[in-house]
Amino acid sequence: MNQKDHLIIFDTTLRDGEQSPGASMSKDEKIRIAKSLEKLHVDVIEAGFPAASPGDFESVAAVAASVKDSTVCGLARATDNDIDAAGKALKVANSARIHTFIATSPLHMEKKLRMTPDEVVERAVYAVKRARNYTDNVEFSPEDAGRSELDFLCRVIEATIDAGASTINIPDTVGYNLPDRFGQLIYDLRERVPNSDKAIFSVHCHNDLGLAVANSLSAVLNGARQVECTINGLGERAGNAALEEVVMSVQTRQDIFDCQVDHIDTTQIVNCSRLVSNITGFPVQPNKAIVGANAFAHESGIHQDGVIKHRETYEIMRAEEVGWNANRMVLGKHSGRNAFSQRLQELGCHFNSEKELNAAFASFKELADKKHEIYDEDLQALISDTLANEKNETVKLLSLKVTSETGETPRAALTLSVNNEECMVDASGSGPVDAVYNAIEKIVHSGAHLQLYSVNNVTDGTDSQAEVNVRLEKEGHIITGQGADIDIVIASAKAYITALNRFVGKNSPRQHPQKTETV
Ligand code: KIV
Ligand code: ZN
Repeated sequence: MNQKDHLIIFDTTLRDGEQSPGASMSKDEKIRIAKSLEKLHVDVIEAGFPAASPGDFESVAAVAASVKDSTVCGLARATDNDIDAAGKALKVANSARIHTFIATSPLHMEKKLRMTPDEVVERAVYAVKRARNYTDNVEFSPEDAGRSELDFLCRVIEATIDAGASTINIPDTVGYNLPDRFGQLIYDLRERVPNSDKAIFSVHCHNDLGLAVANSLSAVLNGARQVECTINGLGERAGNAALEEVVMSVQTRQDIFDCQVDHIDTTQIVNCSRLVSNITGFPVQPNKAIVGANAFAHESGIHQDGVIKHRETYEIMRAEEVGWNANRMVLGKHSGRNAFSQRLQELGCHFNSEKELNAAFASFKELADKKHEIYDEDLQALISDTLANEKNETVKLLSLKVTSETGETPRAALTLSVNNEECMVDASGSGPVDAVYNAIEKIVHSGAHLQLYSVNNVTDGTDSQAEVNVRLEKEGHIITGQGADIDIVIASAKAYITALNRFVGKNSPRQHPQKTETV
């Protein structure tokens, strides 16, 4: 029997995912996600855009240092500065890739780059050659390939493969393509580019028309052997192709695909999805395929009956295959520090210091006093929350008392530490959360505008922790914040404070790889 091809899973949650407004992550958060992706056994982790800022450079270098099994990739525009930054940030990686790109659609070349097609080809070749000085593993993307002219695409691709690119990635940058056409594009490119057999063809699809996964799979059916995707489909605008959907489609429909994803440990998918959601504050919609809370829930009596009699009547995958309920260990107030830290390690959570572990264990004990059974979801929410509070944050919540009574105006008495100085205020509001936010603003005067507020229960039951997500906007910057607590109002305060702390440091300029002038 012929061995099927390996489909390379290239995860760009830390790069394209992070480009989605409000999803920016700290270095430590990126490391936690990278570790979780490594446990998932993704082939390539695109860790960021090192030239964006010194902080981004540091994050990519830190991911490169902590990941051992997956290839770590850095994005670079086709400029000396970007390529050198990527090369340097990836120096310590076990296996490094530089991903360089330049736009090739008539619109982008004329209006964004103000370059002629000849100049673009020349620059693309130059960039690939420069990247090859740092690593043999170079990927080239003709940005906006989905709206580029076929003849010109063939020309750029042939030239960049000759220059040493071993992966050619075809981005549908604005999510404009339809599955048939996009698959045909991959087929045509592989047929027409004379040296196409010297490179792996990859795709990178955006979800503006809700077709990112469909387009990616159509490309795979036409010979693409790498898919760029993100956990939960995070990414610019409507996002990228969701990793979990791509992987499970290929795995579930092995009767159709002539490649396989056996190397991916699919049982890690739900964990990884939760981690990304906790860290970025982008909740997963309940009906989201694979990782949504309802994805494997059977409510209708008829369905349930069918599933009980014969699982396959209504289920095409097993919930356990993607990590639902797998090893869902319950901890409680009698669980010791060892059981606690071992379970966290299994969940991919590593502490930087003993102090962090102690703080997390203290929060766990506090939670266990209030909640009988503590599940993985509780632990993940608790850790994200504790680690956020452990950082040397400017604003810290010291105490909060809220009164809310029928017919009375809710009031909040709040004490914060701001730059290590204690500040106490009282404020009222139209509801208890409004009163708390008014109180915080009375002290901090951030001037931020609350764009979004949402509460989700972390587990079943009325004793569940609440996880609050907020999105704040200030002077064009969008920041999200998360907070978890058994008490919804305290979780709300924590979320708001986390977001405020993230504004600090937001003043330092950071370049967007696709929207800033370069050449
Ligand atoms: O969407 C896109 O075109 C990109 C490129 C940088 C690959 O993200
Ligand atoms: Zn993209």
